Amino acid sequence: MKIRVFETPADVARAVGQRVADALAARPSLVLSLPTGRTPIAAYAELRRLHRSGAADFSRAASFNLDEFAGVAPSHPGSFRAYMEQHLFSGVNLAPERIHFLDGAARDLDTECERYEAEVAAAGGLGLQLLGIGANGHIGFNEPGAELAARTHRVTLADSTRRDNAALFGGDPANVPREALSMGVGTILKATEIVLIATGERKAQCIEQTVHGPVTTRLPASFLQLHPRVEFYLDRPAASKLRA
Ligand code: PGA
Repeated sequence: MKIRVFETPADVARAVGQRVADALAARPSLVLSLPTGRTPIAAYAELRRLHRSGAADFSRAASFNLDEFAGVAPSHPGSFRAYMEQHLFSGVNLAPERIHFLDGAARDLDTECERYEAEVAAAGGLGLQLLGIGANGHIGFNEPGAELAARTHRVTLADSTRRDNAALFGGDPANVPREALSMGVGTILKATEIVLIATGERKAQCIEQTVHGPVTTRLPASFLQLHPRVEFYLDRPAASKLRA
């Protein structure tokens, strides 16, 4: 695993933005897989800036997103679809027909998961997977537990995850859906390259365990140790517990 440590979250965002722009330049038809959460917001702002300045062209690229809340339509302001529209899609030239999303409002959620997995395969698989990480070690909505799903699946959200996402639903964790749809750990690990972004002291412990600990379903991010091309983009506080 390649570990890159930067002084500030803004430096991390600039480096991740440039990393994606470089990947697009090298492969214009890149299939991106994208996270939500607070951490990637600055990197998405950087990508919009790079696009405005002509340094990031998404015209031939495709995107998938990792996850979506169950029971939430794409038009709902708390949906991850709405988040992506606000933070990235509205400011870059991704073709709408190549933006792929799980539909949390689908009538049959299991069928929707199968459809999504097939859509990833039909796009030729994921090229560059960007990831955030939960303080509990989740990636996508793959929560710690006795077992993990390999493929896109329905998940019951951890209480801590519902609290973390309360801002999207009027500030009340009780309003956050109990279920979500998420790519599986196997879906993620099949990506050609993976870039994980983490900032802040709150992530230091799970980053240390992800890099140095055992591979365990109790820390889903630890499975990244099995992938040959993973890079971590960290600020100093997030990297503070890593051994030299
Ligand atoms: P955060 O979320 O960026 O808001 O910390 C990360 C995640 O839960 O994957």
